[in-house]
Amino acid sequence: MPIILGLESSCDETAAAIVRSDRTILAHALAGQDDHHRAFGGVVPEIAARAHCELMMPLVETALADAGLALTDIDAIAATAGPGLIGGVMVGLVTAKALAMAADKPLIAVNHLEGHALSPRLIDADLQFPYLLLLVSGGHCQLLRVRGVGQYDRLATTIDDAVGEAFDKTAKILSLGFPGGPAVEKAAAMGNAAAVPLPRPLLGAKEPHFSFAGLKSAVLRAFATGDYAPEDIAASFQAAVTDCLADRLEYSLSRMDHKPAALVVAGGVAANMAIRAMIEKIAARHAMRFVAPPLWLCTDNGAMIAWAGAERFAAGLTDPLDVAARPRWPLDPAAQPARGAGVKA
Ligand code: KG4
Ligand code: ZN
Repeated sequence: MPIILGLESSCDETAAAIVRSDRTILAHALAGQDDHHRAFGGVVPEIAARAHCELMMPLVETALADAGLALTDIDAIAATAGPGLIGGVMVGLVTAKALAMAADKPLIAVNHLEGHALSPRLIDADLQFPYLLLLVSGGHCQLLRVRGVGQYDRLATTIDDAVGEAFDKTAKILSLGFPGGPAVEKAAAMGNAAAVPLPRPLLGAKEPHFSFAGLKSAVLRAFATGDYAPEDIAASFQAAVTDCLADRLEYSLSRMDHKPAALVVAGGVAANMAIRAMIEKIAARHAMRFVAPPLWLCTDNGAMIAWAGAERFAAGLTDPLDVAARPRWPLDPAAQPARGAGVKA
C-alpha cells in the first residue's frame, strides 16, 4: 500500500506529513510562523520563505521519526507547487525534488487548492465524486464541482477579495490580533450580530459570484465612527459573510439540475463554526450529505498535500524533476474570467 510524504509551504505554515493510501495518517508535523509575522499584522513573504527554509527539513525528520519510517520506505514525495507565495512554494518544492532525487522516488507536484479540495476524502472514505465544494481560504473563495482527481468545474469565484482575506483585514481594523480569522470568530461570540448595519454584497444577484471588498470597507467605516464595540462589529461582519455565502450557495444550487450527493466545505475559513453550521443547514434543505474536515485539516497542513499526492499517485500522475513552481495555478483553467478584474480567479 503506497506511502506518501507531503510537504506544504505555500503561505505561513510549514508542514510535513506521511499518509498511507488506506487513509492512515502516519505522521503530521507542522510549524506555524505566527510569531514571525505578528509585528507586521500579516504574512511577510520574504520572512515566510526564510522560515520555511529553516523549518522544513527538521519537520521532515520529525515526520519520519514519528512514523517510524526511513526515507527509503516512502513510495512518492509530494509537495505544494502553487499557487501561493512563490518564495515559500519554491522551498517546499525544491526540498521535495532533492529528497526524490536522493531516494530515487517519484515526485508529485500538488496544486494547493487540490490539497484542500480532496482533503475531505482523507477523513471520509464514503465521499464519492462528484461533490459540490465551497473552498474558502485566505487566498480563494470558489464554488467547485469536483468530478475527480484533477477534474474541477469552477462554478463561482470572488470578483475581488477572498473571504479569509476579509476576516484578516477585519481583525486588523479591529486590532484583534493575528491570525485574523480565529480572532474575529472569538470576538464575534461576545458581540451582537444585529448591532452594526453592514452590506451584503451581491445578495440576490443573478450571477453566481462572490464579493467581499465592499464589506471590508464598510467595516472600516463603521469602526471609524467610534460608535460600535469591536465585538459587535466582529459579530455583524461574521453574520454578513455567512449571509453572503449562504445566498450565493443557494443561487447556484437553485440552478442545478443534477445536484451532487454531497455538499462539502474546505479551506481555512471552513474552520469557522458559524459558516460550517450555515452550510450544514443548506445541505439538509437540499437533501445533500454535509461533509467538512476536522478543524486541523481545514487550515493549511501537510496531510492534505500527502493525501492529494496519494490520490494522484493512484491515478498514475507523477511529475518530472524540473516541474516549475507556480504563483498562480487555477484548478479549472477553462473557467471564464469572472466579472471585474478576476484577480482571484
Ligand atoms: O487554507 P488556509 O490555511 O490558507 C490559505 O490557503 O489561504 O486559510 C487561511 C485563512 C486565513 O484568512 C484565516 O484567517 C482563515 O483562513 N481562518 C478563519 C478561521 N480559521 C482560519 N476564518 C474564519 N474563522 C476561522 N475560525
Ligand atoms: Zn490553504
